[in-house]
Amino acid sequence: MPKFSREQAHRLLTRAAPLLRLPTSPNRQPEVLRDGSGLRCPAAGRVYPCRGGVLDLLNSELALTVTQKSLDTPFTAWAYDRFRDALARLLNVPDFPVEVALTQQSLQAQAGDTLLDLACGPGNFTIEWAKRVGPDGLVIGLDISAPMLARAAHHVHRWGLDNVLLIRGDAHHLPLADDRLEKINCSGGFHQFPDLSQALREIARVSAPGAVLTASTFAQGPADRRAAIKRWLKRRFDLHFVPLVWLAEQLADIGYHQYRWSLPGGWFGYVSARRTSED
Ligand SMILES: C[S@@+](CC[C@H](N)C(=O)[O-])C[C@H]1O[C@@H](n2cnc3c(N)ncnc32)[C@H](O)[C@@H]1O
Repeated sequence: MPKFSREQAHRLLTRAAPLLRLPTSPNRQPEVLRDGSGLRCPAAGRVYPCRGGVLDLLNSELALTVTQKSLDTPFTAWAYDRFRDALARLLNVPDFPVEVALTQQSLQAQAGDTLLDLACGPGNFTIEWAKRVGPDGLVIGLDISAPMLARAAHHVHRWGLDNVLLIRGDAHHLPLADDRLEKINCSGGFHQFPDLSQALREIARVSAPGAVLTASTFAQGPADRRAAIKRWLKRRFDLHFVPLVWLAEQLADIGYHQYRWSLPGGWFGYVSARRTSED
């Protein structure tokens, strides 16, 4: 387990506290424990621990879907971390630096930004955003899987970054304050969420007016020539391909417009949208 000093944890938690909301007190800012070991709920007094560089804000253990479970072991998290890029190549997904550049075109992560990397997994994209937002910025990497977050903590430590807060939490109930985040990225997460509409509503709730959202996901385009095999993969392996037209409608319903999408290799889609600024 990487060694994060208590001082480092205390500093990060203090910076992030105004953005955080605990499941047991969603309307009040949490208290930071003086020794940096976690947060205390101002209403119930419950303590949420920060250990090994990960703040655990899951209220209770959730029943995971088959797809979620498949990545939620130390071995599969390691294998994903190690072989993701090779597997991605088999599916015509662009190389990782190209994916980062494609996403960054819309996300525009820059020095001083506060950014949420949702479904951060082993922290591959989280690290990229953390390098871009610099010491004055803050990246919150949030994932449901403890083994994935342990990989992310390892990389954050290895890169010597002290501007990343890793949180164990659920995309359907984000432990974050309303209307605060200006940049949100979710790479490879949408097809894993059992209720994507609910996760999108949560994204909208925590987004500041004018916020940018970028995401990549297994996706289905309009008039997709792979539609039949995608339907079969859904039936056989519960691998969900998010319809890109449906996604545009969902995002518009929650106040996200300027929708752009691309499906470069036919399987994996990249989308971006911006929340309207006048509400
Ligand atoms: C395919 S990985 C993507 C990891 C990384 N962002 C990437 O693009 O390589 C999907 C991640 O979504 C996470 N995930 C699935 N359901 C989630 C949920 N409800 N809330 C938060 N994270 C979730 C999984 O634990 C997993 O780490």
